[in-house]
Amino acid sequence: MARPTVLVLNGPNLNLLGVREPTIYGRETLADIEEACLERADTLELDLDFRQSNNEGQLIDWVQEARDSADGIIINAAGYSHTSVALMDALAASDLPVIEVHLSNIHRREEFRHHSYVSRVARGVIVGLGGHGYELALDAMARLLATES
Ligand code: DQA
Repeated sequence: MARPTVLVLNGPNLNLLGVREPTIYGRETLADIEEACLERADTLELDLDFRQSNNEGQLIDWVQEARDSADGIIINAAGYSHTSVALMDALAASDLPVIEVHLSNIHRREEFRHHSYVSRVARGVIVGLGGHGYELALDAMARLLATES
């Protein structure tokens, strides 16, 4: 049987992890997080498709394509979480289970970060646990896909 595929999407500025505001986001790079996710996905018998873009339209195109190529989406939409109705609409249209991740605890930060459009269409949300949050999201996605398909 084919292994389920999980698309992990990362939004703007996450390519700068490791050097970007390390007191908030830590020293882990996106490549470190990808490596940890690949290991975790392998243990969970999932295929992983890990991507980052600084462009809203690119993220939306990937979400649209996921309809045919993935079984679930884990997304840290970064700044677009707080602004993008279009990305929220694309996630809703995908008909795939969505888990939202944020490295920092957005609820302990500025008021404008407390609201996320992605949360409206997410099955679950993991915030404030750094890169480990992605691995927890993979655990949760594996369980969702095993019990609901
Ligand atoms: C973030 C939180 C967002 O508010 C911010 O714009 C980011 C990163 C996080 O992972 O903590 O770029 O999504």
